[in-house]
Amino acid sequence: RTVRIIGAPMDYGANRRGVDMGPSAIRYAGLADGLERAAVEPIDDGDLSMPRAEERDPDAGQPSRGTAKFLREVEDVCTRVGDRVAATLADGEFPLVLGGDHSVAIGSLGGSARAADLGAIWFDAHADLNTPETTPSGNVHGMPLAAALGRGAFGETDWAPAPRLQESSIAYVGLRSIDERERELIRDSEMTAFTMSDIDQRGVSTVVEEALEIATDGTDGVHVSLDLDWLDPKTAPGVGTPVRGGVTYREAHAALEALSRRDEADGVLRSMDVVEVNPILDEANETATLAAELTASTFGKRIL
Ligand code: ARG
Ligand code: MN
Ligand code: MN
Ligand code: MN
Repeated sequence: RTVRIIGAPMDYGANRRGVDMGPSAIRYAGLADGLERAAVEPIDDGDLSMPRAEERDPDAGQPSRGTAKFLREVEDVCTRVGDRVAATLADGEFPLVLGGDHSVAIGSLGGSARAADLGAIWFDAHADLNTPETTPSGNVHGMPLAAALGRGAFGETDWAPAPRLQESSIAYVGLRSIDERERELIRDSEMTAFTMSDIDQRGVSTVVEEALEIATDGTDGVHVSLDLDWLDPKTAPGVGTPVRGGVTYREAHAALEALSRRDEADGVLRSMDVVEVNPILDEANETATLAAELTASTFGKRIL
């Protein structure tokens, strides 16, 4: 199996600089070695070019309703991420997108859902289901699922909605920080939300197996979105929006190994992104190291 690494050093969707250095930090932490030890062949495409910082204007290209900062830049980057992901899949390879902030997932979901009915598993402290109309921050990294589902003002664009993403086949794992408006949106949606309480009560492996049932039922494949703030900030300090009470180092490995076991049996995984690593806020690159290790676990790296 060939895994094509697509670097997307985007920080336009987040409220702070630094997350644009994520792809370098994850590579430096040994991503390619880890993938080779997982017996997959990594090919590194390098990084996509980002729009120049000096030309940024957060208010350019605002949606018809609400706020979404740097929306023009996010559209530009996500359109290219989507094309690259779709082309990689068409070549029979596995696209692995390195963020960058979580807004890059609009591109990965869109590209992956072009030629297949897609389910998704969203490992995150946050629901990322705000629209420009509901966002408390204006940051697009709090909106990628809403964008890919064509909700709110995103529904009027041609670039954001992912063509064949199945709302009922999306499962959250590890939620613990949800905005007031998002709570209603989740309740009224067809998505399944496993919170940290579910993990406390039933264990992470069981929860991930159930998430896999939801994401594989009636779909052709599963997109895995791994936001490093899913982990507890004591384990993964290098993120822009840390929230206490996340999964531990062992729980994170157990979760991604559960994905890998299922993938070895049925080949269900189709695409993945690893996002929100911020080396400026990190301690000795440990969050990037964790990102590299967890990715290798997803592709089958084992202790023995
Ligand atoms: N819900 C908050 C917002 O909309 C935080 C989102 C954080 N998202 C992330 N991918 N880190 O701004
Ligand atoms: Mn998050
Ligand atoms: Mn367009
Ligand atoms: Mn996120």
